[in-house]
Amino acid sequence: MSDKPLTTQSGAPVLDNQNSKTAGARGPVLLEDVHLVEKLAHFNRERVPERVVHAKGAGAYGYFEVTHPVAQYTKAKFLSEVGKRTEVFIRFSTVAGERGAADTERDPRGFAVKFYTEDGNYDIVGNNTPVFFIRDPLKFPDFIHTQKRNPKTNLKDPNAVWDFWSLSPESLHQVTILFSDRGTPKTLRNMHGFGSHTFQWINDKGEAVWVKYHFKTEQGIENFTREEAIRVAGEDPDYHTRDLYQAIERGDYPAWKVYVQIMPLEDAATYQFDPFDVTKVWHYEDYPLIPIGRMVLHRNPENYFAEVEQAAFSPANIVPGIGFSPDKMLQGRLFAYSDAHRYRIGTNYNLLPVNRPHATSAQNYQRDGAMRFDGNGGGSVNYEPNSFQGPVQSDAAKGYLLPVSGVAAEHPYVSDDHYTQPGDLYRLLPADEQDRLIDNIVHAMNGVDEVIARRQIEHFAKADTAYGQRVAKGLGIAVDVTN
Ligand code: HEM
Repeated sequence: MSDKPLTTQSGAPVLDNQNSKTAGARGPVLLEDVHLVEKLAHFNRERVPERVVHAKGAGAYGYFEVTHPVAQYTKAKFLSEVGKRTEVFIRFSTVAGERGAADTERDPRGFAVKFYTEDGNYDIVGNNTPVFFIRDPLKFPDFIHTQKRNPKTNLKDPNAVWDFWSLSPESLHQVTILFSDRGTPKTLRNMHGFGSHTFQWINDKGEAVWVKYHFKTEQGIENFTREEAIRVAGEDPDYHTRDLYQAIERGDYPAWKVYVQIMPLEDAATYQFDPFDVTKVWHYEDYPLIPIGRMVLHRNPENYFAEVEQAAFSPANIVPGIGFSPDKMLQGRLFAYSDAHRYRIGTNYNLLPVNRPHATSAQNYQRDGAMRFDGNGGGSVNYEPNSFQGPVQSDAAKGYLLPVSGVAAEHPYVSDDHYTQPGDLYRLLPADEQDRLIDNIVHAMNGVDEVIARRQIEHFAKADTAYGQRVAKGLGIAVDVTN
């Protein structure tokens, strides 16, 4: 037996942790059993709201090391010299499932990386896919409603899923990736990661380029078939979480090579499509992959709730040398994440150990608020400007001055070509992968209203006639599809 006293939250020793205090041996429980009351009350408050998306996840710490010089493109200090290492925390996740959902469900995987740099934390909050289903943030809540549960049945609703996709053909590229083998990665270690959006890099001369991030797994791509993913979901719903944890515990540290694609600023106006459209990839022939570094995961969190559940990533967390792009989805996300964190964890979420800067400290005039558990700035000055050497704004944060012009209006995207890239992807797949893609789609669309199925088949056919014909055939729907 331990000789360490059990205490109440205020530190006083607890007399009995086995028997509640009752009035007599068989009498009712007394309200004055303050230990019981405190224990039950705290238990009632153990949960914070789960993430509205990406609720099921696994996290790990590691480092990012620069392997190739990129200082000509960005003044970001963590990228300043070859060999430089920066601590990272990563959280992998599924998108649609709740906190207890099975890891191997077909879904994109979140790939969120926090770099604890000396200029503050930089978050790349990406996925294991280079594109996304939609390209305007206005559509995100509607899209996610179709991925979650039907309001009446509380069941997943394929009709809603395919209704939305068939009416939002910009989703076709991501849908094609999702129903390919990559929709069911074997482990979190066996998949690539992507920043997906276009971002900006700014160098010390004030010059800027557009940039996309790619994390290529060193473990190689490995995927489950649909049947395997379904079986594993039943046998071990936490399969991916377990695999990542165990690999790191046994010293088999997963690693990714990190690359960027770089587009000169002026190319954006003339490229064959809008480079800020997150439903498109930039062709490698136009903008080849440039290696920049390597990310290794080598430490498991000590406490899941403290470090993974309370982790708060945001695309708004950038550092000098990095900028945003006009990608509308990215712009919407700049609001959404910290708003979600304030609701989910509380206004002082950035003070938590996993979220606060590790290689520098936050210095500002924000004070007070619920659960302000540090010194709250002590007696230091809490307004600015001031005469007392408080922190001041700095030119270090100066970004690129992006010229913009035009009429303020609800502008649609200029291009409606939702078909070339998914068609190219379909044709690129080896025959056996094409077979599984079709089979996965047919399986998922089975039972969907025919009017919705027909509309979706038309999109597949516009990408590639055979793609549409084969899905139609699999569903037993007679259609006359032409490209
Ligand atoms: C999580 C909103 C698009 C990747 C979240 C969360 C919200 C959100 C509210 C939960 C945050 C939390 O409670 O901690 C949005 C909105 C989007 C959008 C409004 C579009 C306008 C995207 C895209 C990607 C992405 C395009 C990837 C390229 C992620 C990831 C997480 C996440 C990885 C989980 C972060 C973590 O592990 O904590 N998103 N999202 N999201 N989102 Fe998005």
